[in-house]
Amino acid sequence: MPLVELKSVTKTYRLGEVTVNALDDVSLSVDEGAFAALTGPSGSGKTTLLNLIGCLDRPDTGTVLIDGRPTGKLAEKQLDHLRSRVAGMIFQSFNLVPVLTARENVELPLHLHPLSRAERAARVDDALASVGLTRWADFQPDRLSGGQRQRVAVARALVMKPRLILADEPTASLDTANAVALVDLMRQLNEEQRVTFLFSTHDDRLLQCVREVVELRDGRIVNMGAPKHRAEASHGLRCVSAEVR
Ligand SMILES: Nc1ncnc2c1ncn2[C@@H]1O[C@H](COP(=O)(O)OP(=O)(O)O)[C@@H](O)[C@H]1O
Ligand SMILES: [Mg+2]
Repeated sequence: MPLVELKSVTKTYRLGEVTVNALDDVSLSVDEGAFAALTGPSGSGKTTLLNLIGCLDRPDTGTVLIDGRPTGKLAEKQLDHLRSRVAGMIFQSFNLVPVLTARENVELPLHLHPLSRAERAARVDDALASVGLTRWADFQPDRLSGGQRQRVAVARALVMKPRLILADEPTASLDTANAVALVDLMRQLNEEQRVTFLFSTHDDRLLQCVREVVELRDGRIVNMGAPKHRAEASHGLRCVSAEVR
């Protein structure tokens, strides 16, 4: 059974007189363990699709299933469980709270869950260590580089131990060195902890490292398969393991 399945999903936005088909009859499945990208030009529906999978929004028609369960029928409490335990989100602009330290930002999702203080601290330490930020735990975001901020966001998504991470253009604000380090880190989490990743991106530095690409245009899937030009991988990306699979 796929971890995520979309069946004939549509989503329409109305802006005054104008109707935009953000998603138009999209069907897609994502298996557990995937490292996959949604790509396509700006406005093609990538963010809308991630938001539907993350249960931040609902489709107009069609069904989104997580673990084979249609999310449209879930009560708010079950949706909260899905949002926190199944699908972690990472955003292009990091969305960190500026007045909190890295540690406190990572700890935020845990406040909604009944954990002892010791358990909570251990989870946060583990998450920070897994993104290589132990030394920066007490720094606020403005004292961290863009790459470090995005790693705090990854740690915050990881702290609930989700099976799926949805990442909306996670490398778009990063220089190449930081983008490469982030992609490496996410691949490692995918391979060693079997965290499933679904990205939206048009960043070649990330596209060349994924195993599957789904291309959207005007809210429709126009292409699906292995990434193009994998053999020409450049940017010094260390994604060789993706090529020998
Ligand atoms: N909240 C919204 N209100 C109105 N239109 C929206 C909204 N969100 C997205 N859209 C429109 O839906 C289409 C798809 O947007 P989006 O999913 O953000 O695409 P992408 O992430 O690929 O750039 C675009 O035409 C966009 O303008
Ligand atoms: Mg977007």
